[in-house]
Parts: sequence; structure tokens; C-alpha cells
Amino acid sequence: MESLSRFFFVSLIALLAYFALFASAELHVREFVIQPKPVKRLCRTHQSITVNGQFPGPNLEVRNGDSLAITVINRARYNISIHWHGIRQLRNPWADGPEYITQCPIRPGQSYTYRFTIEGQEGTLWWHAHSKWLRATVYGALIIYPRLGSPYPFSMPKRDIPILLGEWWDRNPMDVLRLAQFTGAAPNVSDAYTINGQPGDLYRCSRAETTRFPIFPGETVQLRVINAALNQELFFSVANHQLTVVETDSAYTKPFTTSVIMIGPGQTTNVLLTANQRPGRYYMAARAYNSANAPFDNTTTTAILEYVNAPTRRGRGRGQIAPVFPVLPGFNDTATATAFTNRLRYWKRAPVPLQVDDNLFLTVGLGLINCTNPNSPRCQGPNGTRFAASINNQSFVLPRRNSIMQAYYQGMPGIFTTDFPPFPPVQFDYTGNVSRGLWQPVKGTKVYKLKYKANVQIVFQDTSIVTPENHPMHLHGYQFYVVGSGFGNFNPRTDPARFNLFDPPERNTIGTPPGGWVAIRFVADNPGAWFMHCHIDSHLGWGLAMVFLVENGRGQLQSVQAPPLDLPRC
Ligand code: C2O
Repeated sequence: MESLSRFFFVSLIALLAYFALFASAELHVREFVIQPKPVKRLCRTHQSITVNGQFPGPNLEVRNGDSLAITVINRARYNISIHWHGIRQLRNPWADGPEYITQCPIRPGQSYTYRFTIEGQEGTLWWHAHSKWLRATVYGALIIYPRLGSPYPFSMPKRDIPILLGEWWDRNPMDVLRLAQFTGAAPNVSDAYTINGQPGDLYRCSRAETTRFPIFPGETVQLRVINAALNQELFFSVANHQLTVVETDSAYTKPFTTSVIMIGPGQTTNVLLTANQRPGRYYMAARAYNSANAPFDNTTTTAILEYVNAPTRRGRGRGQIAPVFPVLPGFNDTATATAFTNRLRYWKRAPVPLQVDDNLFLTVGLGLINCTNPNSPRCQGPNGTRFAASINNQSFVLPRRNSIMQAYYQGMPGIFTTDFPPFPPVQFDYTGNVSRGLWQPVKGTKVYKLKYKANVQIVFQDTSIVTPENHPMHLHGYQFYVVGSGFGNFNPRTDPARFNLFDPPERNTIGTPPGGWVAIRFVADNPGAWFMHCHIDSHLGWGLAMVFLVENGRGQLQSVQAPPLDLPRC
């Protein structure tokens, strides 16, 4: 009797806990109206494509376990789709967003509701347009707090500041892209970087609107740094203040302190900052980490960290004192970038797959397409060529008649083939002096099939074709562990012995060291079509992309859900 009533009591508690868990989960219903809006930067006004007239777009704040229903209404003149960068979208590729991969774009005048649930994720992610170059202005933070009552693995400051690093063109970014697509040359570099949409004091007509962050002396804040720039890795630093890294790409890290971080397009990095310096004004600044042998925007964006008790100047020239400027690494300081990345560790022991079922070796890099008439206006790349980029010599072309996921689900042939090569077609000294005969990739729409729950390892090998470069490789639908990296060519006999299978950082975007390689592992436990690409948009447009098609499992809850009824049609 005693034990029976105890059984009921325990069950009742368990039941209540269960309901508490789900009762606390919220549904966030939002509307994202895609619309042009005049935005003035660098002395000139452009009709920027925005969400709800906001640039940058609205930040979303949710909790792990919450659901979102975001209706995107397209009132702009371009096709668009929205991607929730880093959200796993378990069994739900329909809400992922990349156009022609998991959905057809939302046409002008049409709408689509992205419905998804955050399952077991917390930290800083973001959302952005996944259509041509619209993400230049269409992006925002997606902040996921832990479930109510669930603790952080570090002492979480009361105040949280999203820092969105962006890239601004003093013209319509869609025209910049269109021109490059016509000429085959590299697109124009940007005219400014921005912090929360503002270029800052070092640019023309920008001083009055420089982003300012008031801070109390002694206070610790968390900065959620997001690199939303289209085409550039960035160094970020705050004058006189140390930064303690606690999270990257929505995965906690073992905390460590640094004066500068390097962050690639697509990546996020949370740092803690304590206002322990003399009351004053301090610049936070970001500028390029440029690993390639190519033109880049060499300007510097700034915002100001302002102690509330900062002294003011007296007498003539009264007003605020000039902010202190941080020391930033040189533009090509690969040593600093690499040293930073190599310090990242998962916060605890990581459940890394120890065996590998599918082992892919992928060369990533640029290429050039030869022209029959090198004097053609369409061949203004180096020596009368057109720029391209590829993975294993395959330059990815988006389908036009349907999305890959829809074609796969409907069994529609002719949209893609499943023969993506897991190894380069020829072996060569990838990081050496590559013979010109190997510079021209092949175009195609090939996917690579993975069995449900396969343990996958990918080694990304940068090539020196055209130029060695840091390529921030992003995988949709997954988080992966970065188990190793190095310079030069990957050596399959000696390098795996040095892999970190204990506490490698978990990420959704990882840069190849320029002229080097990086290895990742993950379990293919999310069925669907998942895009994997370089998050530098100019490279993405040139074809530095591929798609994984992860098959359904046999069990319950191991298959892709049915598509929503309003999924856009091509
Ligand atoms: Cu944030 Cu496919 O990208």
C-alpha cells in the first residue's frame, strides 16, 4: 500500500514536470513583410529591401522548446526566401529556406509561413534571406534562451547585446551581383562594414548615427557577435577590454580570454566583457581578415562602448572625450586568425562519432571557366575567363524548375543527379603550384546521398587554384564537430591520429585555413535535402556548394514530414 501510493505520487510529479516543460514552451507568431524602404548611409539614400521596414531586420528572442510561425509576405520586386541559420529543422527541411534547395522562392505578392520548433538548441543564431544577394540587408539575430529554469554553464550577465556585423554597398546589392554575373568578373567590394546597421565614425556622413552602447562601471555584459557580412571574414576587438569567449554557433565553449576574435560569414561568437577600465569611451571595431590574394574592402567599422560615468571635456571644445581605438591585427594576419580558432573547445566531453561510415574528401576553391571568345564582354574575369568555384571540381548550379527537396519528395526526375563525387576526380598537390589544366571546374546539380544515422566525416581541402583562401563552409540542418585542421595537404595516414575526439568545438560554419584543410564529423540523423556551401556569397554564386540528401530512417519519427500546404511552387 505504502509503495503503491508512493508510485502514484512519483508518477504525478513526473506528469506535472512534463506539463510544466510544455506549458512553458511558447508559440511565436510573427509577420515578416519584405518591402523596400529608403535607408541612408554614406551620405546617400537607397531603396533597401527590408523586413517590416527595419534595417537590420528584427531580432527574434525565443527559448529552447518554443515554436515559431513566421509569415513572410513578399511586397518587394524580387523573389525571396528566408533561412534560419543554424536551426536544425529536424525532419522539417520545408522550413529551412534556401531557394531551389528546399523550397521555391516566394514570388512578389506571395507569402509563405515558416513553421518550426527549436529542439535542443540554445544560444546565438541568426536568420537571413537565402536568395541571390538579398541578405545584404535582410538579416537579424535569432537568440535562443535556455528553457525556463535551465542554467547556463557560466555565470550569465544580466545584459545581452547583439552585435550584427554587416556589409554595405553604396548601390543596390542586387545590381552589384547582376553586373558580376554578366561580366564574369569578381563583384565590386563593399563600401563599408556596419555594426547593427551603422558604419560608424570612420565613414563619411556616419558619425551622428554611430552605434553606442552605454555600460556601467564594473558591469559584465554578453556580446552576441554575428558575422552577417556577405563576403568577408572579420577581426573584431574592443579597445582596452578583454573578451571571454563562451559560445560559438549556438554551442558553449570552454571559456577563454582574448583581445581579438576572428569571425567568418555565417558564424556567431558570444563573448563576455567586463567594464573594468578607466571610465571612458572605447571603440569596438571590425575590419577584414583577408586571406586571399584578391581585392577587398579595407575599411573599418566602429561602435562606441560608453561608460555612463565617462568624463566630459571642459572649456572650449566641451563635449565627449574621443574614444580609444583598439589594436587590430593586420589584414592578412592568418597566424592570429588560426591561433584564435585553434583555442576553441567544446565546453564538456563531446559525443563525437568515433567510427566513420562515410568518409568524404572535398577540395574547395575557386576556378576559372575559359571562354571561346576571351574578348567577350561576358568574359571579364582574369585573362578573358569567367570566375567559378567548386567542390571536387563540381561547380554547383541551382535548379530552376523545382527545388531539390520537392523534386526528391515528389519523385520528379531531371532536377538533380545523385552522383556527387566523394573524392576529387584527380589527385594533385592541392596547395602547391596547380597546373592550369586543373583550373576549370564542371557545372552540374549533383547531390550526395547519406544513409540515415550514418557517421560522416568530411575533410575540406582548400586549393590554391586562383588563390588559397579561408572558405567558411556552412552545413544546413546540422551542427558538426571540428575534429582537426592544418596547413598544406591533408595526410590521411598521419593527420587523423591527431584529431581531437574529446572536446572539439561544435559549429555550423567552419573556415578552411587558407592553403590548408579542416575535418568535421557529424551523425546524419536529420533526413532531407541539406545545402552545404561557402558562406561567402560571391563564392556561393560561383558554385562553391553541394547538397546532402539524407534518406529517411525506418523507425517512427525518422522520416521527413509532409510539406506544408502553402509551400511555394516554382
Ligand atoms: Cu547562412 Cu545557406 O546559409
